[in-house]
Amino acid sequence: MRHFLKIADFSAKEIDKILNFSLRLKKELKKTGKNKPIFQDKSLAMIFEKPSLRTRVSFEVGMTQLGGHALYLGPNDIQMGKRESIADISGTLCRYANIIMARVFKHEVLDELVLHSTVPVINALSDLEHPCQIMADLLTMLEHKQKLKGLKVAFVGDGENNVTHSLALAAGLMGIDFSVANPRGYSMKKEVVADAKKFAKKSGGKINEYNDPQEAVSGVDVIYTDTWISMGDEAEKAKRLKAFKEFQVTNKLMNYASKSAVFMHDMPAYRGNEVAEEVIDGPRSIIFDQAENRLHAQKGIMVYLIKNSTFEKSQGKK
Ligand code: NVA
Repeated sequence: MRHFLKIADFSAKEIDKILNFSLRLKKELKKTGKNKPIFQDKSLAMIFEKPSLRTRVSFEVGMTQLGGHALYLGPNDIQMGKRESIADISGTLCRYANIIMARVFKHEVLDELVLHSTVPVINALSDLEHPCQIMADLLTMLEHKQKLKGLKVAFVGDGENNVTHSLALAAGLMGIDFSVANPRGYSMKKEVVADAKKFAKKSGGKINEYNDPQEAVSGVDVIYTDTWISMGDEAEKAKRLKAFKEFQVTNKLMNYASKSAVFMHDMPAYRGNEVAEEVIDGPRSIIFDQAENRLHAQKGIMVYLIKNSTFEKSQGKK
């Protein structure tokens, strides 16, 4: 049984394959207004411990477009670990649904869901990673820059962040030259850096860490940022606003990047904090292409997982 909890749960080859398939689904949808009902009679159970706009809507619409059905289970519906144990929730849901997707505070909750599920589990954001976002981002980079290998991408802001982590690991896998600039004390987790560098060695990618945004973005093709205050970090708001003050993506910072550099943000975005209005609402911003690609990339992920688990089931493996 295959699950998608971390970006590196897929190999570089699998990521390529899924991105190509997602692109095919996107083209089919744009050309004919619909996709083939690959997921007829299939259901996706969506567990949310945190709020969501893009993730919820793109998964639900994606499932509908493939002829399937998605169910939203909000924080008050199932109260994971309070009303019922994670084990009981997972063991029950997999008897009804063909895929389980969950957005959680602690990544370990996903590991526990996997332990008790007979269907694929997808990470729709945890404190550690946001792999679905990054699959959509890779698709967006491919569309705008026609390559991943050798692409120069810089992330400016919170290093110890789910998006940064998945981005660095994806960069390592796909041969991207990745730089991150964060304030001291807000670096990527050591294990993530070690894994990303290990992958980069094989792929020809690079993982560079800086404390100076200008250095990190010098000559890059893509500048990426995310909120300074992720869901769960709200109590540190005042401290973080102070720590990240010098890390806003402005037009001045964009000018250190390559002339044709684009700006990316997974959203929700806070104009005047991590990014200036002039950048996010300006001509170099591709945030809505990114948001749209959540839909296409996640369809690719779901189809791949279902195909794979069916295959493994036929081989008698869990
Ligand atoms: N790092 C952000 C991503 C939001 C999609 C958060 O965890 O809140």
